[in-house]
Amino acid sequence: MLANRMKAIDSSGIRKVFDLAARLEDPVNLSIGQPDFDVPDEIKEVGIDSIREGFNRYTVTQGIPELQEAVREHYRSHYGVEFEDILITSGVSGGLTLAFIALVEAGDEVLLSDPYFVMYKHLPNLFGGKPIFVDTYPDFALLPEKLEEKVTPRTKMLVINSPANPTGKAYAPDELRAIADFARKHDLLVISDEIYDHFIYDQQPDTFAKYYEKTLLLNGFSKTAAMTGWRLGYAAGPHEIIESMKTLQQYSFVCAPSFAQKAGIAALELDISKRIAEYRVKRDLIYEGLKGHFEVEKPGGAFYIFPKAPGGDGVKFVEKAIANNLLIIPGNVFSEENTHFRLSFAATDETIQRGIEILQKIVKG
Ligand SMILES: Cc1ncc(COP(=O)(O)O)c(C=O)c1O
Repeated sequence: MLANRMKAIDSSGIRKVFDLAARLEDPVNLSIGQPDFDVPDEIKEVGIDSIREGFNRYTVTQGIPELQEAVREHYRSHYGVEFEDILITSGVSGGLTLAFIALVEAGDEVLLSDPYFVMYKHLPNLFGGKPIFVDTYPDFALLPEKLEEKVTPRTKMLVINSPANPTGKAYAPDELRAIADFARKHDLLVISDEIYDHFIYDQQPDTFAKYYEKTLLLNGFSKTAAMTGWRLGYAAGPHEIIESMKTLQQYSFVCAPSFAQKAGIAALELDISKRIAEYRVKRDLIYEGLKGHFEVEKPGGAFYIFPKAPGGDGVKFVEKAIANNLLIIPGNVFSEENTHFRLSFAATDETIQRGIEILQKIVKG
């Protein structure tokens, strides 16, 4: 029954963890990929009012003009960036899916930094393309010389994600500039997934679109406004690409959820500096708790830390952690390597502290 393309993707890694986790009663859960706070009340009110006022029908495919304009203005005023075109999407996942359908065909190579966000690996495979992994261990820097080793005449584009899931790596302006120089030299499109842009602890938020003209920016509201279930995001960049994604959206998602689009206008300028200060404390707590015991990089953003498993076997280590009631994810879910594990610090400080204690106990044996 199934199309051959289904053989190109699987969800085995993460399923195994969840099967093991299902047996736990009250685990210390440091596996979660969404903020531990709720959608702010003022954003909820806008969504609820929109529903009550009857704003419940299809919107235009490209998204309501007020939200499009708000996105345009946000990038203009904060970064001095002008986009050719904008599409409101059903989350960054929706944007990624449409972008890959529009752009990737048989034989195309897509450069990805390894470790990567899981969708980046599967989408090229689904459309006959090939993910090409650029190893960034041990410090997760995406160096031009490493990219040069992997570029071929079939390279179509590069996907970047800063701050990153699963490593927490946040590129400095110089690193963004170097990636832009590499992409310009080879005339590559760069898809920049900036969903964690505000979760950045040692620098100001930034956008790759500022450094490189052939950028397809993807961003959304799932992390900054904790609106993961509202399914709202946006794609911004070259008109030709956005126009094709819009055509595809017409025949797939149709539009992003109507009430969520109204709420998105308010969410764009949400001040979450207090939340970010709290997350910086969480970042410091987890890093300080692990650094004497694990080989680990200090995350500059997002809400993940990606330490090396003692002994170098991520799956084995996660099995041990689960046996000790701690839920974390093996690195091979996000990588061609099985040496690390991902821990999310989107949790209460108390949960993080309990997690640290369990991890230290395992290491000490
Ligand atoms: C790097 C990255 N991109 C995209 C997404 C998906 O975001 P959305 O909820 O907007 O589809 C996630 C979610 O975890 C993510 O970590």
